[in-house]
Amino acid sequence: MFALMREKGTNLIDDLTSGLVNNMRFSDRNVLYPPEAEVKPGKGVLPEWFYASFKEPNGHSELDTIHMYITQEAMFEELGELMMGIALVEMKHLDKLADLIKDLGGELTRSNNTDKVKYGDTPAEAVRIAIDGELKTIAEYERITALTAALPPSDTTRYTLSLLAKLIADEQLHITLLKGWLSGDQSKL
Ligand SMILES: [Fe+2]
Ligand SMILES: [Fe+2]
Repeated sequence: MFALMREKGTNLIDDLTSGLVNNMRFSDRNVLYPPEAEVKPGKGVLPEWFYASFKEPNGHSELDTIHMYITQEAMFEELGELMMGIALVEMKHLDKLADLIKDLGGELTRSNNTDKVKYGDTPAEAVRIAIDGELKTIAEYERITALTAALPPSDTTRYTLSLLAKLIADEQLHITLLKGWLSGDQSKL
């Protein structure tokens, strides 16, 4: 009778991975994912805005990026920990975008391929490609932030803006980590 029961529908793995990823050095610990909110269609935030970032075959969508990082991790031993750590954070980004697109009434099962993904022939080239992808991702998230901020405020716009702020903070940290690797490892240029 003293047991505190889990609410139906609570995703413990979601909570666990959020906590895990938030506490890794590959995610910005100072900026948190927004708590659950009532996100719904009809508030001006369109699911289509997120398709390019979610899994479009453009070389820098979250899905392409996960594939890029784990491939680079396998190709270049010296990048292993860095690329794998970042890839885990990108998986959480993909997960949060999937939930958002679903809540906004969008389509999650569009086809994709990894034809546009580039890997690099040396570790330094791989890192430069990764930085370029992160910059493109941030530019896209900033573009959607501006569109969302111009809408009448609602739970949906507030959640979207906070999520975008978290994604941007993580991508900025990735650039810092990748640049740090480059500057500390000139011998591999
Ligand atoms: Fe990401
Ligand atoms: Fe990133």
